Amino acid sequence: SEALLTAVEEIRKLKKEKNAVVLSHFYMPAELQITEADGGIADFVGDSLGLSVAATKVQADNIIFCGVKFMAETAKILNPAKQVLLPNMLAGCSLAESITAADVRKLKAQYPGVPVVAYINTYAETKAEVDICCTSRNAMDIARAMEGDQLIFLPDVFMGRNLQAKIKAETGKELILWDGKCEVHEQFSPQRIKGLQLMYPEADVLVHWEVPDQTVAEALERGGGVVGSTSDILRYVGESKKRQFILGSECDLGATLRGMYPEKEFIVPCIKCPHMKSITIQNTLEALLAIGNPSEAAYRIELEEEIIRKAFTPIDRMLAFS
Ligand code: 13P
Ligand code: SF4
Repeated sequence: SEALLTAVEEIRKLKKEKNAVVLSHFYMPAELQITEADGGIADFVGDSLGLSVAATKVQADNIIFCGVKFMAETAKILNPAKQVLLPNMLAGCSLAESITAADVRKLKAQYPGVPVVAYINTYAETKAEVDICCTSRNAMDIARAMEGDQLIFLPDVFMGRNLQAKIKAETGKELILWDGKCEVHEQFSPQRIKGLQLMYPEADVLVHWEVPDQTVAEALERGGGVVGSTSDILRYVGESKKRQFILGSECDLGATLRGMYPEKEFIVPCIKCPHMKSITIQNTLEALLAIGNPSEAAYRIELEEEIIRKAFTPIDRMLAFS
């Protein structure tokens, strides 16, 4: 629409004036996933690992983070000298909210000496208590490399069980899990995917690590496909000779896939993450306009120095791995 085009133009202009870059996640509304080069507003579009790496390379004074709060916090921890702005402070995450720093301290007391791996979908205070972070892209490698025959993996129970299924056979390692769930991916029940597989028997299934383990086991037993991270899914489609795919992940990843592979067909049960969708062109524009004004405080990610220092170590260890 005309209003959208005007807002995009204004954002592009303001980014230069205010010395800001826009980092945008693959689950953002489609219009926030278009790069500057393609006429949009994003300097970088990626998955959670790609965005963390991109955050370490920012030159500009301001980072506008089009993603959810734990991601913006990660960008701040990696770049404490920069101002990181989140267009909507209410952009949460059911996984990040499922566990606190006190919960981790209790787990550590219960399992002394057992390494703690935290999914990046956790808040900074939680990260400050763990040994190493991971994202969906490097979880398998990091879990495999940890010392000992036990490992605490938190907070996603389904992702934990999906990892466990692969790791147990390979290394005998046992994962101790928390009971967090992604409110989007938990909705991909075995029945839902089975129904689609019956309707589209030729299609391969693309499922994210955060989908219930029962769904993954049944779906991949019935046919071809992949369980993995957002990047694994994108890569799998790129390398596959198949033309049809059922997506078991966030709805707007479907838009990304259709844009990247217009010759292929994607069957997407459209389940949107309400937290991701609470970021819009409009509030992105408002955050940019606020830079340099008192109202910028409402968008600014602020963390205590001590938390930044403690949470940096597990994130840095993760990056050294990738
Ligand atoms: P990735 O970007 O690491 O695939 O994470 C998926 C997710 O649910 C992010 O909130
Ligand atoms: Fe959290 Fe799931 Fe939304 Fe990602 S998709 S931000 S894991 S609720």
